[in-house]
Amino acid sequence: MKKFLIIIAAILALAACGTPQPKAIQLQTPARPAGQQDVVGLAVAPIDTVRVGFIGLGMRGPGAVERFCYIPGTKIVALCDAEMDRAERAQEILRRNGRPDAALYGGSLDVWKELCERDDINLVYIATDWKHHVPMALYAMEQGKHVAIEVPAATNLDEIWALINMAESKQLHCMMLENCCYDFFEMASLSMAQQGVFGEIIHGEGSYCHNLDPFWDAYWHSWRLDFNHENRGDVYPTHGLGPVCQAMNIHRGDRFTTLVAMDTDPFNGPKHVAARTGKDCSDFKNGDLTCTLIRTEKGKTILIEHDVLTPRPYSRMYQLVGTDGYAGKYPVEQYCLRTEGAEEVDYQQLDGEKVYMYDELAALQAQYRNPILTPELEALAKQVGGHGGMDFIMDYRLVYCLRNGLPLDMDVYDLAEWCCLGEISRISMDNGCVPVAVPDFTRGAWQKMDKFSYALAE
Ligand SMILES: NC(=O)c1ccc[n+]([C@@H]2O[C@H](COP(=O)([O-])OP(=O)(O)OC[C@H]3O[C@@H](n4cnc5c(N)ncnc54)[C@H](O)[C@@H]3O)[C@@H](O)[C@H]2O)c1
Repeated sequence: MKKFLIIIAAILALAACGTPQPKAIQLQTPARPAGQQDVVGLAVAPIDTVRVGFIGLGMRGPGAVERFCYIPGTKIVALCDAEMDRAERAQEILRRNGRPDAALYGGSLDVWKELCERDDINLVYIATDWKHHVPMALYAMEQGKHVAIEVPAATNLDEIWALINMAESKQLHCMMLENCCYDFFEMASLSMAQQGVFGEIIHGEGSYCHNLDPFWDAYWHSWRLDFNHENRGDVYPTHGLGPVCQAMNIHRGDRFTTLVAMDTDPFNGPKHVAARTGKDCSDFKNGDLTCTLIRTEKGKTILIEHDVLTPRPYSRMYQLVGTDGYAGKYPVEQYCLRTEGAEEVDYQQLDGEKVYMYDELAALQAQYRNPILTPELEALAKQVGGHGGMDFIMDYRLVYCLRNGLPLDMDVYDLAEWCCLGEISRISMDNGCVPVAVPDFTRGAWQKMDKFSYALAE
């Protein structure tokens, strides 16, 4: 009997141990300061004229200035770049479009503060290198301005919490300019997902695969190569994550719980540094390819890839996998839906589902049209452009929501979730690719809303 009990105890002990599971690394969530409220669903009083100041007029910024010229109810009050000639060139965009001249700021690294201090601006639009995003956004919010920040708005958790706390304490909009949420395939697929066409979305994929070889030297003082040189992790995750998170209702009924990440060694990165400096580089931190897997509270998964150093074709992946259907954008746009009651099993046939491509795909998209994409907006977006029109739709929606006093499509918690991979993927990899618990950036408010939705005026 004693021997029997020992065996049972040993079996129970083994069962309790099971396969060794790495424990998720826990990260600190700073307590919400007393009296501070979350900004889930934040709506502020309607702003009749959105009076905007732009900071950062390199490759990206001038396109935004041009797009705003086409948006009613806007006034472009000020233009700022550390390089004054860039601000002057942006002024030409206003003149070409029959807009009044803006005040120009330039010639130093901190003259942007004067723009933020103006009392005739209510929105600061930031398109500088990544290291300047957060100091500028914090200062602008301190001055009572709403902010829109290019991607990735923040590069680490300290920056993310600082933006959240500032937006919450001031009850201001702090939106990341994630344009890929407004591309036509993503918008149509989101609408289809919300109408149940794919069943329940249980997995999403997104990526930023873009060979940046032609661009590295074009960035101001080579800031982007320097950042990749100095930082391991998925430093540009938001194009892949944004549209997938909207379809999966992240912090609107579900939330990230854990992630694990893995990267390749840096093979190509050091060559770019060597070509630039003329010296061998042995301390390049960013892998040529970084993969991150995220699990959500509701038992769903998301795969994100970052690859800017190989000749892989451009891809943001964008896949939604549902219980009853699938949407995939690259390399060819398609939807797959279950077919009902096949008559007999055909073992040679590997793809039993109905595939929608080309005209059939367009017909399906027309049937489930996205509510914000009116035919007029679609036509104007295609005329004005900006990555085929998605940039214009993003800016248009930002202004529309501000003018109508509506919650924005993307809030500071989206910014936090989509940017947090930058640091958390590194923490996972630096610790042997172990799971890391993702903080609840809403600090308890992730179920206030039960799904993603666009705000529309009556
Ligand atoms: N959403 C997209 O599709 C997309 C595409 C390209 C770039 N971006 C983002 O846009 C941002 C800008 O990228 P870019 O390609 O234009 O880079 P860039 O190097 O061409 O331009 C950056 C500009 O910021 C200015 N700047 C830097 N510090 C400044 C300061 N202290 N005060 C005023 N101006 C300052 C520089 O002079 C430069 O003109 C980045 O965040 C990038 O990731 C987004």
